[in-house]
Amino acid sequence: VKKVRTHHLQKWKAEGHRWAMLTAYDQGAASVFDEAGIPVLLVGDSASNNVFANPTSLPVTVDELIPLARAVARSAPRALVVGDLPFGSFQRSPEQAYDTAVRFLKEAGVQAVKLEGGAEMAPQISKLTEGGVPVMAHIGFTPQSEHALGGYRVQGRGEAAERLLADAHAVQEAGAFSVVMEMVPAPIAQQVTAELTIPTIGIGAGAGCDAQVLVWQDAMGLNTGRAPRFVKKYADLHGVMLEAAREYADDVASGTFPAAEHSFDS
Ligand code: KIV
Ligand code: NA
Repeated sequence: VKKVRTHHLQKWKAEGHRWAMLTAYDQGAASVFDEAGIPVLLVGDSASNNVFANPTSLPVTVDELIPLARAVARSAPRALVVGDLPFGSFQRSPEQAYDTAVRFLKEAGVQAVKLEGGAEMAPQISKLTEGGVPVMAHIGFTPQSEHALGGYRVQGRGEAAERLLADAHAVQEAGAFSVVMEMVPAPIAQQVTAELTIPTIGIGAGAGCDAQVLVWQDAMGLNTGRAPRFVKKYADLHGVMLEAAREYADDVASGTFPAAEHSFDS
C-alpha cells in the first residue's frame, strides 16, 4: 500500500488525471472507500449534519470531530485523510488555526486539514503551511458562512467572479496544496482550474475541475429527502438497509433467525 501524498495530486493535475474525493466519518465507510481506491477522504464538518444530526455545519466542535478523524485515519492505509476545521476553531487568528490543526495531526493522525475562506484566510493558510501542516482551502459557497452569505447560493456569478478568482489565487499564493470550490458557475470554476497550478476540487462547480467531492451519504443514497442539484446518487443504501432491517426483524419475530448454523452446541 502506497500512501497518497499531496505531490501525487499535483502530478495528477499535470497529467490531466481526474480523481474523486468522498467524506468519511467512521471505520466502515473509510475502509470501503480506501479499498475502492478513493485517494482523498475528508472528515468533513458535515459530520455536524450527517453524524450528529444538527441542522447546519456550525455546531460541530473540534472535540467531536477529532475522534471521527482518528477512526478514518486508522482505517485508510492508502488515502490521504483531511480533517475539516470546524466553525470558530481557526478564524480568530493564525495562531488559533495552528493550534487546532496541530490537534488534528497529533490526536487524530490526519495528513492535512481543510479550512473555509479565501483571501481573508491567507494568513492562516501561510501559518499552517510554514508550520508543516498541508492545507486544503475551500472557496465559493462556504457553509460555515451560511448566515453571512444569505443561505445556500451559487457564488461567483457576474461581477462576483473577480472576487472568486482573487480568492483562488490568494489561497494558492498562501501555500494551499489544493482548493475546494463549492457552488460556483462551471465556466468560472474551469477558468480557476486553468489559472491555478494546484488542483481544484469541485462540488457543484461543473466538470472542469481537477477533482470532485461528495458527501458519502448523499452519493450512496443513505440520506433521503431533497438533495442539492450537484448530488448524484450512486446507490440506494437507505432502501437496502431498510429492507434488511425489516427482514431481520421479521426473522426474529417468526423464529427463523437464529438457525442451527448460528447457534452453539452444548
Ligand atoms: O464538510 C464537507 O463535507 C465539505 C465538503 C462537501 C467539501 O466541506
Ligand atoms: Na466542510
